[in-house]
Amino acid sequence: MSAIKKISVLISGRGSNLASLLDAIDAGRIQGRVVRVLSQRADAAGLQHAEKRGIPTTVVDVKAYPTRDAFDAALGDAIAVDTPDLVVLAGFMRVLGAAIVQRFAGRMINIHPALLPSYPGLHTHQRALADGVKWHGCTVHFVTPEVDVGPIVGQSVVPVLPDDDEASLAARVLDAEHRLLEDVVRWFCADRLSVDGQTVTLRDNAESTAEPPTSCQHPRD
Ligand code: GRF
Repeated sequence: MSAIKKISVLISGRGSNLASLLDAIDAGRIQGRVVRVLSQRADAAGLQHAEKRGIPTTVVDVKAYPTRDAFDAALGDAIAVDTPDLVVLAGFMRVLGAAIVQRFAGRMINIHPALLPSYPGLHTHQRALADGVKWHGCTVHFVTPEVDVGPIVGQSVVPVLPDDDEASLAARVLDAEHRLLEDVVRWFCADRLSVDGQTVTLRDNAESTAEPPTSCQHPRD
């Protein structure tokens, strides 16, 4: 049995992905524990999900630092305090510079609300609707210095329905995000992921949970 992994989660807002991850951990579906939740905003509502459970929180206030590099260095130090095995960007709305990304290379993942490489960046649902695509979704990828292009671990696809507006599509994608993030964090914590260049492989692992994945987004599942 691999050791329980230490997970740090970075958020910027309501933290529904964080809450869903904490629920999965509490239910015993992930061999990990969240050691700290960090945000660059003191008013991030999602911090309450951690506080309610007695999980330490840290705010690294972006306004307190004169440069992006200074902020990144402080954030990196705040993360490193716990020596996490995995750093999850779960709705963290700051672009991180190369130095902090390198510091946590191979152990930092991000959830993005689109099927990368389509729709990197912001306003993904609005752009998908404007393009008339029929399928949309979300991606979890390892973080690399270039934004939204790191090796893809998993993707979850949702239909775009005729009556969708931005809110209804966002809600459908968010539901898929919660399930995908849980799967990916479970795989990471079970040491099932290996990365070779841009390609992430999900290894079979007899020690991993016997339950089927809660979403299907990886070719080997
Ligand atoms: C999610 O859609 C995430 O993919 C995006 O911002 C949203 C954050 O949602 N980057 P929440 O804070 O996890 O509820």
